[in-house]
Amino acid sequence: MTEIAKPKLRSRAWFDNPANIDMTALYLERYLNFGITLEELRSGRPIIGIAQTGSDLSPCNRHHLVLAERLRDGIREMGGIPLEFPVHPIQETGKRPTAGLDRNLSYLGLVEVLYGYPLDGVVLTIGCDKTTPACLMAAATVNIPAIALSVGPMLNGWHKGERTGSGTIVWKARQMLAAGEIDDAEFIKLVASSAPSTGYCNTMGTATTMNSLAEALGMSLPGSAAIPAPYRDRQESAYWTGRRIVEMVAEDLKPSDILTLDAFHNAIVVNSAIGGSTNAPIHLAALARHVGVDLPLKDWETHGHKVPLLVNLQPAGEYLGEDYYRAGGVPAVVAQLMKQALIREDALTVNGRTIGDNCRGAKVEDEKVIRPFDQPLKSDAGFIVLTGNLFDAAIMKTSVISDEFRQRYLSNPDDPDAFEGPAIVFDGPEDYHHRIDDPSLGITTSTLMFMRGAGPIGYPGAAEVVNMRPPAYLITEGVHALPCIGDGRQSGTSGSPSILNASPEAAANGGLALLQTGDRVRIDLRKGRVDVLIADEELTERRRALMQAGGYAYPASQTPWQEIQRSVVGQLDTGAILEGAEKYQRLAQTAGVPRDNH
Ligand code: FES
Ligand code: MG
Repeated sequence: MTEIAKPKLRSRAWFDNPANIDMTALYLERYLNFGITLEELRSGRPIIGIAQTGSDLSPCNRHHLVLAERLRDGIREMGGIPLEFPVHPIQETGKRPTAGLDRNLSYLGLVEVLYGYPLDGVVLTIGCDKTTPACLMAAATVNIPAIALSVGPMLNGWHKGERTGSGTIVWKARQMLAAGEIDDAEFIKLVASSAPSTGYCNTMGTATTMNSLAEALGMSLPGSAAIPAPYRDRQESAYWTGRRIVEMVAEDLKPSDILTLDAFHNAIVVNSAIGGSTNAPIHLAALARHVGVDLPLKDWETHGHKVPLLVNLQPAGEYLGEDYYRAGGVPAVVAQLMKQALIREDALTVNGRTIGDNCRGAKVEDEKVIRPFDQPLKSDAGFIVLTGNLFDAAIMKTSVISDEFRQRYLSNPDDPDAFEGPAIVFDGPEDYHHRIDDPSLGITTSTLMFMRGAGPIGYPGAAEVVNMRPPAYLITEGVHALPCIGDGRQSGTSGSPSILNASPEAAANGGLALLQTGDRVRIDLRKGRVDVLIADEELTERRRALMQAGGYAYPASQTPWQEIQRSVVGQLDTGAILEGAEKYQRLAQTAGVPRDNH
């Protein structure tokens, strides 16, 4: 066992405070009651939290219950004392009305735990979509040494000799079901084939994206993000992560040392190269605000748009998580980008070295899966940021624009980046599901489909519902995507080129609340604009009428948290955080530890 020289540990305020011996005794006795010894608690060894996101309610992260054993081994070996505790579960496909609602709740809970208990450092067990940002955001606020351990993706899914990827197969199977090509039983079998093992979604959805970005930000050990959950390397990674957090406490290496503007810009570049999720700008904006870094949405276009798509994973490409790992994972991608001088190589990471030192020389082992920079899957694969008279900001993932879509909407020789058409407006996903196949709506390939009432306040939590399939009668004619625009989000596993995250949302009485079915709307991707083609006076009149009617109507809150979140949440373009929470990053740093509890 290696002993490490310690700086002042915050846990000493609980366990070793001679000036306050009556409270110290109170703090000590209850941790002794399950067998931890006085010597352990009072010998100045760092107390390391294991923020456990795995549970039966969180199948994507459930394997962390197993990995925690190897984490504990590593922590113990370096002289630390592990204390494991649960994090409020967030499971993307199980939580209704949307897991998006719980990211901030999980964040809040974890902040209280990290700040209010005798913890000197923490291992954040990340995986399923929102668990990664929730944990990182909390560590940023409290700013104690923290390292992220990914649970890793599931093994590849297969059906009849073809890879079936999480989520992506659902969007495809829904179209097949709508077109009558498969029945209900085949639908379920096809979807279930994509989930053959423990782990998170094996596509480049929000989970693979956010775990890759946690590594690109420097918050997890190099090479660890892509290891599939059941692989033995994943267990090893847990062990090394446990060892490393103890050293980080000794070095006082904190999230604010790692999560710098350079780190965020690296993450933006990596996100383009991997074909990352449209949820990433939301979560990184939130994380940046909680750590005190200014990261405007426009930075995604400025630093990310021109970067090519290198990683050939579904939904933009064809492969899955196991292939990504074997091809070299995040370090191989970063090494390619470093050769083009696209990475800020001096950004510090959790292992105490820079990302440049970590990734220089990392090899691509399979060029079908991670393409050479000069033979990308797509060029200009990042997001573009749009504005106009319907919203201040929205994003679009251009790397998923299909040839079919490009041919139909973006091939006018006089105006190749623009198109316009009549709007059909849906108020929430129920309205859409209810009406989409109604022929009297008259939806054609010129129709632009709008989804509103799906933002952080309206839904609440912002639902992944903007990617809407066309009516079944168009699908059978070979039309697989219509232009979709909305104030909600879209699953990272969806390949739809939607215009998303429109802010402010309709429920905040943003411009989308004024739109009416039948209005003509023009989309110009080169200018980055979406505009309804009606006179300003008419818009002003509609706004007056809307406000007179009490504003845009949305369903009532169903739980106390929905009501609380709605009263303080911000918009998607600035991370949809609990407004005001960001100031506590500074306060927690100076306040040290909370007051005694008795
Ligand atoms: Fe949990 Fe995709 S649903 S990772
Ligand atoms: Mg999702």
